[in-house]
Amino acid sequence: MRKKVTVVGAGNVGANVALRIADKELADVVLVDVVEGVPQGKGLDLLQSGPVEGYDVNVTGSNDYEPTAGSDIVVITAGLARKPGMSRDDLLHANSAIVKSATEQAVKYSPDCILILVTNPLDAMCWVAQQVSGFPRSRVIGMAGVLDTARYRTFLAMELGVSVENITALVLGGHGDTMVPLVRHTNVSGIPVTELIPEDRLNAIVDRTRNGGAEIVKFLKTGSAYYAPSAATVEMVESILKDKKKVLPCAALLEGEYGVNGLFVGVPVKLGASGIEKVYEVQLNDAEKAMLAHSTAAVKELVDVLKEKMGA
Ligand code: NAI
Ligand code: 2OP
Repeated sequence: MRKKVTVVGAGNVGANVALRIADKELADVVLVDVVEGVPQGKGLDLLQSGPVEGYDVNVTGSNDYEPTAGSDIVVITAGLARKPGMSRDDLLHANSAIVKSATEQAVKYSPDCILILVTNPLDAMCWVAQQVSGFPRSRVIGMAGVLDTARYRTFLAMELGVSVENITALVLGGHGDTMVPLVRHTNVSGIPVTELIPEDRLNAIVDRTRNGGAEIVKFLKTGSAYYAPSAATVEMVESILKDKKKVLPCAALLEGEYGVNGLFVGVPVKLGASGIEKVYEVQLNDAEKAMLAHSTAAVKELVDVLKEKMGA
């Protein structure tokens, strides 16, 4: 039987997630959005690309969740995107209400699904979805690390004039300015990047990565990035649906790993048919531990605000 993926939020990220899933023929897709006509129109438009692109998946759109029943994965992109001058954290209150209602509806119709969160502020929205769904940590996963790592790898490849495929890297921590690109663990076909790029240039690349989202917002003016975010999301979807067991940096609920309990933080995980099948604990030095603690504190600050609001 075909797999089924629901994408909540048929905006820039959601529509491109649907497009990439269809293009790769990974699953039937149901797009859900509050705006009447938009998910239906985009769904039909994507379906009509099938004869040209040669994919046979079904793509539909809806304003309610009934057609999403029995989804294997629900990707939540619903919410407001950042505008220039707006931080991800400004989105906290508006988007937590949206994610809460989307999660309630989605899990009502697909109680066995795996939830992938995209809505910002990402790590805090994962916490909302986990609280509302009551799902185990294997089935609530946040997309940010794959995107942040892709940006970091892109900038390194640009600097060295080499293929992005040769850059192996990892960005840990929350999805914000405090994220932690692990320079010491970055290599180019096995060569430590610290042997190839001087420290000041590496620092500049780390900074650019941390501000990678804001750089795109500044260009676009009316919204935030969506091509790389949708590609990153679909890499996670594919690893789960095909049980590829890729090791990818994702936001996961930590249960003591890295000295953190009860918060979603970006860490390397194994993604397979059951969702998060393993959380990897990287050996960090003192400086890296301090950066991760700083990043985790930023996530905690937002979750504490939400806890107060939700009386949790
Ligand atoms: P967008 O504005 O293009 O699309 C958002 C869609 O959500 C709109 O179509 C809107 O009608 C819909 N929506 C609003 N409330 C809804 C609800 N209750 N139920 C269903 N749909 C609802 O925004 P875009 O660019 O697609 O971004 C979506 C979210 O993803 C934003 O919060 C953005 O900050 C975040 N994002 C996160 C990234 C990450 O790395 N985690 C990367 C890129 C974006
Ligand atoms: C990004 O990093 C806005 O979080 C989004 O592009």
